[in-house]
Amino acid sequence: MYLLYPDVHISARRKAKLFISMPPNGHEHRYFTPSANTVVRLVILLAVAATAIGGVVAFEVFKSPFVTRAGIVEPQPVPFSHKHHVSDDGIDCRYCHTTAERSAFAGIPPTETCMNCHSQLWTTSEMLEPVRESFRSGQPLRWKRVHNLPDFVFFDHSIHVAKGVGCSTCHGRVDKMQLTYQFAPLTMEWCLSCHRQPEEFIRPREEVFNMNWEPPPDQAEEGARLAKQYHVKDVQTLTNCSTCHR
Ligand code: HEC
Ligand code: HEC
Ligand code: HEC
Ligand code: HEC
Ligand code: HEC
Repeated sequence: MYLLYPDVHISARRKAKLFISMPPNGHEHRYFTPSANTVVRLVILLAVAATAIGGVVAFEVFKSPFVTRAGIVEPQPVPFSHKHHVSDDGIDCRYCHTTAERSAFAGIPPTETCMNCHSQLWTTSEMLEPVRESFRSGQPLRWKRVHNLPDFVFFDHSIHVAKGVGCSTCHGRVDKMQLTYQFAPLTMEWCLSCHRQPEEFIRPREEVFNMNWEPPPDQAEEGARLAKQYHVKDVQTLTNCSTCHR
């Protein structure tokens, strides 16, 4: 849905086809003998094939999860499960990610937040020993970042939340994740695929934290209406380099 990469394959082939089938001045005019022509065609075809294959390989390498990190699970000090805490226990995102609505960062909960419950619940769990140890020592748990944009990219949670972009649009079904992983590629093209047509993704603000929200059949009109109501900036501004690189 998000990946709008140009189709290297087809455009290269199309170009080659045009090139081969068009005599330069519209007359039946050959610069080469028929066999030389065949050789030229072969060379061009090989070059095109090489470019296409090279393109595909580069595409696969540069956009693969190996590079984008999408889907990769980081080892954490405690195997924290969003599935347990969000789906099974019904805890809202904001209980732990307290600043998602008002700051650039969503925030990671301190040990105290865990201990609100785990000083009473599962108090002998082996798995929770690092949490208790952190609480006793005052040393924070060292969660490993799952998402990490390069420093030259500016990102802000609060603006997205305020304009009706839901957590699940960018993070996927976190409520079903046993261990947290990055859902979207977080490439520039991915950001732009929404900034070019945000109305396809905007939902009512009160649904931002709802993991079960699905776009209605008339999302195109509904999204456009909400975009207007929320005064979402125009595409020019949203795709301007300095919006994300400041
Ligand atoms: C009980 C606390 C708790 C709740 C509730 C909770 N989270 Fe988390 N979340 C955490 C902790 C702890 C981490 C860090 C460990 C990890 O990555 O799994 C985290 C990590 C994340 C990350 C990855 C952060 C990174 O490192 O890049 C995302 C995204 C996230 N949560 C989204 C959500 C969403 C969306 C909801 C609501 C559906 C939610 N969380 C509810 C505690 C919570
Ligand atoms: C428009 C896409 C988008 C939306 C919507 C979004 N996030 Fe994020 N989130 C990101 C990106 C990108 C990062 C990585 C930021 C970085 O590396 O600086 C991130 C990082 C995080 C983190 C790690 C800590 C941090 O703030 O960097 C948490 C936790 C998180 N998001 C939770 C949430 C929750 C909860 C929601 C719903 C309110 C949400 N996100 C909505 C894109 C999004
Ligand atoms: C609002 C209450 C609440 C908070 C806050 C909370 N938990 Fe939990 N946690 C639970 C409940 C209830 C269970 C057991 C239930 C389950 O499996 O759904 C649980 C289970 C766990 C388990 C599994 C324990 C085992 O032995 O199977 C881990 C690990 C855990 N929580 C880590 C954390 C961490 C880390 C935090 C802080 C970021 C945290 N929890 C915050 C309620 C909470
Ligand atoms: C699913 C849609 C969506 C995705 C994905 C998305 N954004 Fe946005 N973004 C928006 C909307 C909507 C706004 C609000 C525009 C406004 O201020 O009216 C916005 C606003 C912003 C702004 C603030 C613009 C301003 O000056 O007001 C920044 C910065 C930004 N996004 C960066 C990013 C980056 C970086 C990524 C990729 C990591 C990203 N966004 C991914 C929808 C999205
Ligand atoms: C909506 C946000 C957004 C906008 C607008 C945007 N970029 Fe980016 N840009 C990103 C993100 C995110 C990355 C990091 C991609 C990654 O790590 O894979 C990036 C990376 C880059 C890079 C590093 C090379 C690369 O491709 O990873 C360059 C150069 C760059 N952008 C230039 C530009 C220029 C020039 C413009 C204006 C035409 C622009 N960007 C507009 C989000 C944006």
